[in-house]
Amino acid sequence: MYKIVLVPELKVLLSRDQIAQRVAEMGQEISRDFAGQTIIFVGVLKGAAIFLSDLARHVPLDATFDFIGVSSYGNRPTPAEDPAGHAAWDSSGEVKLTKDVDQSMTARNVILVEDILDTGLTLNFIKKLLLAHQPKSLRIAALLDKPSRRKQPIQAHYIGFQIPDAYVVGYGLDYAERYRNLPDVCVIDNP
Ligand code: IMP
Ligand code: MG
Repeated sequence: MYKIVLVPELKVLLSRDQIAQRVAEMGQEISRDFAGQTIIFVGVLKGAAIFLSDLARHVPLDATFDFIGVSSYGNRPTPAEDPAGHAAWDSSGEVKLTKDVDQSMTARNVILVEDILDTGLTLNFIKKLLLAHQPKSLRIAALLDKPSRRKQPIQAHYIGFQIPDAYVVGYGLDYAERYRNLPDVCVIDNP
């Protein structure tokens, strides 16, 4: 029997310089919108960690951090079963909370920070959960948006880049937990 091992191919879609420039602009926009106010950044673990840390450093306001963790119900397929990396998010419409925020969001200006907006299921779930706290305001900042994949309507106030329907890794985004540490956002083939 032959065992064929494919070498993953990573093509840069967004370079570290493009990302840095856009993240700085997003930070400036948030700073203008919330001038003189206090905000709380709520990052969605783990993918948004790198984006949040860069974004927050472009927002010179009185700010704090919190983090929320979610995962998709159902069996996430192995890379071999799902080379495109989409099945887990297509097959299961349900999201479960794995880590709640540590503090109340009541009467706070909340910026929910997410790596990528895909079907919209994850952010709709989190949005509902945070709105139950009755925040003063709730806005979404997403580095990437794949509008063609949307299953549930949702809009982010701050979007870094709209991208086509390709599976991307790097700058926090993973494939089976790997590649988060790549400085560029890359399209992955043969993961
Ligand atoms: P949604 O619930 O379909 O909007 O999924 C959002 C989540 O799916 C993100 O937080 C990512 O964890 C994951 N995801 C969706 N597309 C990609 C991708 O291209 N690369 C890496 N993760 C992705
Ligand atoms: Mg994620």
